[in-house]
Amino acid sequence: MNGQRKRIGLLTGGGDCPGLNSVIRAVVKTAINIYGYEIIGFTDGYMGLVNNRFKKLTLSDVSGLLDKGGTILGTTDSFDPFNMTIDIDGEKQERDMSGRIVDNIKMHDIEALIVIGGINTITTGYRLSLLGVNVIAIPKNIDNDIPGTDATIGFISAVNTATEALDKLHSTAESHHRVMVLEVMGRRAGWVALESGIAGGADIILIPEIPYEINLIARRILERKKSGKNFSIVCVSEGCIPADKAKNADSPDDNCPKSMHNISSDIATELEKLTHLETRVTVLGYLQRGGEPSPSDRILTTRLGVEAVNMAAQGIYNKMAGISNNALCPIDLSEVAYKCKHVPVDGELVRIARNMGVSFGD
Ligand code: F6P
Repeated sequence: MNGQRKRIGLLTGGGDCPGLNSVIRAVVKTAINIYGYEIIGFTDGYMGLVNNRFKKLTLSDVSGLLDKGGTILGTTDSFDPFNMTIDIDGEKQERDMSGRIVDNIKMHDIEALIVIGGINTITTGYRLSLLGVNVIAIPKNIDNDIPGTDATIGFISAVNTATEALDKLHSTAESHHRVMVLEVMGRRAGWVALESGIAGGADIILIPEIPYEINLIARRILERKKSGKNFSIVCVSEGCIPADKAKNADSPDDNCPKSMHNISSDIATELEKLTHLETRVTVLGYLQRGGEPSPSDRILTTRLGVEAVNMAAQGIYNKMAGISNNALCPIDLSEVAYKCKHVPVDGELVRIARNMGVSFGD
């Protein structure tokens, strides 16, 4: 402790999403107004902590932030301080720079470090906690793939964006009697496709957890046509995989492509061949990550931001602030790090979608 006011470090890591600024606002306001703490914001995620780039955050810094997309702290994707590429005499070398983080935390007299991020950011936080840093994590990403919380910050806003896209695609699909394929993000998990697919009335939903057979999708589209439905909407999660490539996998993670490659184009080409129906593709991309958070995301960010500071005040460290059954529920970082929360294939959402006649291509 600096002998005066308790200091808290704060950073945002990984891809941006709606709600990051809103959670920063909740942390700063609670820390200053309720506890009189100082908040040191590190810029561009862990990179700022390694390089000691920071700014002290004040109430005026967070004024008007509730509805703003992005993060005022900046962020970096795929940055690992335990395996950082640095330039030594013109040569690129891999180095473990976590010691620098520990030193900077000590130098600033930081009592607790609040990290807002996805699985990689939380896993790094967990590894830092093993080095003696007091870490509190707040789960965010549009993929909703973080265990220990019902929802991640940004997910509901992304589902709203994808649902709006599906609603709009319906107009053209119906007017032109087309098959419309919408590709949404989600990486290893199909939450965005599943929830927006249900909300937006998709006829076919493809997710990484349920490998698909293209012939079965084509058959469903032709059945719809026969019954008088001249169009079909296919909602595709970017990480979905055809059944013939998914054989012998123990977990959906084993099948998930390392990098995403617009699988919807392949699917649309094959569907057009099999159905002889005009098929068009829309890849929603980064539109899902930008813009203002939805009202429910603003409530979630506020709950988790306030809770993280309350945890710091009570000395509850090395945990993630999560929500379970709509109640705040801190969970050990060890139970979250390195993991992925997949869509349960026989869970309620998949079941009700099937009851509504949705095909998963299986
Ligand atoms: O994890 C969030 C996410 O938006 C994924 O859904 C998506 O695959 C990925 O990030 C895209 O990240 P990048 O910014 O590296 O393209």
